[in-house]
Amino acid sequence: MEAIVLAAGKGTRMCSELPKVLHPVFGKPVLGYVLEVLAGAGVKDPYVVIGYKAEEVRAYLKPLGAVAVLQREQKGTGHAVMMAKAALKNAQGPILIWPGDMPLVKPETLKAFCAAHQKSRAHVSVLSCDQENPFGYGRIVREEGHFTAIREELDATPEERRIREVNTGVYLFDKKVLLAALEKIGQDNRKGEYYLTDTIEILRREGYCVEAFPLAIAEEGQGINSQKDLANVTKKMSEREIAKHQDRGVTFMAPEQTFVAPGVKIGKGTTVYPWCFIEAGVEIGAKCEIGPFAKLRRGTVIGDGSVIGSFVEVNRSRVGKKVSAKHLTYLGDAVIGDGTNLGAGTITANFDGKKKHQTVIGKHVMIGSNTVLVAPVRIPDGAKTGAGSVVIPKTKIKKGDVVVGVPARPVLKKKR
Ligand code: UD1
Ligand code: CA
Repeated sequence: MEAIVLAAGKGTRMCSELPKVLHPVFGKPVLGYVLEVLAGAGVKDPYVVIGYKAEEVRAYLKPLGAVAVLQREQKGTGHAVMMAKAALKNAQGPILIWPGDMPLVKPETLKAFCAAHQKSRAHVSVLSCDQENPFGYGRIVREEGHFTAIREELDATPEERRIREVNTGVYLFDKKVLLAALEKIGQDNRKGEYYLTDTIEILRREGYCVEAFPLAIAEEGQGINSQKDLANVTKKMSEREIAKHQDRGVTFMAPEQTFVAPGVKIGKGTTVYPWCFIEAGVEIGAKCEIGPFAKLRRGTVIGDGSVIGSFVEVNRSRVGKKVSAKHLTYLGDAVIGDGTNLGAGTITANFDGKKKHQTVIGKHVMIGSNTVLVAPVRIPDGAKTGAGSVVIPKTKIKKGDVVVGVPARPVLKKKR
């Protein structure tokens, strides 16, 4: 099966300079999620039609193995597919078409859709879903139950606008039938574009078998056309992730007030308090407490039994087991040993204006409240810093030392 992803549009309704498909959701462009869904259903190296700010989109696609096809002028979805004609020269099986702004369809839905298409022996199948509010989507028009056409919002009659079954924009086409139908579509519609959706009525009239399968649930059919849609999709992705973690024994006190990116790992028995933001790739151990108001950023690993409390941000850091960072702390580029306690207001000053530097804190260290650790800096096992100390680079600290002051130095131990 060959796939064509349509990603040439500007995304006018986003009111943004960035091409629509490059808008990030949890740091990854929407288009990246689309390619992942396809890969998840076994579709590799799709053709991606690009146009608006093509070079930016091409640069994003390059390492991902997708093949870019240029649509110089954006004259509609039908025109976009025509641009991939040459690329399809050697294609044998059915052609899958996918809009670049539809990241929520699940791979299993795509598999079910492929199976339904095969079984029905249709020349073209459309993946549809029921939307409570179908505004803006193409409507699936049926006559006596038989699928006859897709009508776009602007071109629909008031009656057609009441139809709730909508086109997700995902199709499977027989290649020859697709190419022939594309020759026949015109621009006679309110937008003056070549609509891919017009092929349905044409093919139906010519006696081909066209089918619409309502196999997607409403949330999967959510496309991204506006900033509001982008926020809805972000929320939905987070909800899906949180549900997966809940099924594995993670407690979320306020799932609606928490954002968890796809691809986060959280161990059993961990509690996430309200208002946390957890980015992609973060790994949290078992029986931890996170938040309220914690931000865990990329490259962060938290060991079992640790507490990352209120107003704590952790970035690119490895935190050991049973570490306490309960209040008002920033850990950036830090490595923290097991059993260490970070007092309220501990800050790693990791950026000198040019470079980021590492802070290494040993096991069972006590960092006093309001300590600033100016990286690169190393605090050995069992050491302590006094409240308000500023530990500067190259400070010589031995195991078990107590350092205090600004800049911090070891407290001399009294001879007995
Ligand atoms: C389209 C469908 C609509 C469907 C909806 C589902 C048409 C005419 N309408 O409407 O039936 O319900 O998707 O989300 O197909 N694109 C190009 N080149 C172009 C125009 C668009 O590559 O010349 C790309 C866009 O980048 C986008 C996708 O095609 O990723 C869909 O285009 P968009 O303008 O979002 O179509 P909708 O109005 O959402
Ligand atoms: Ca769209």
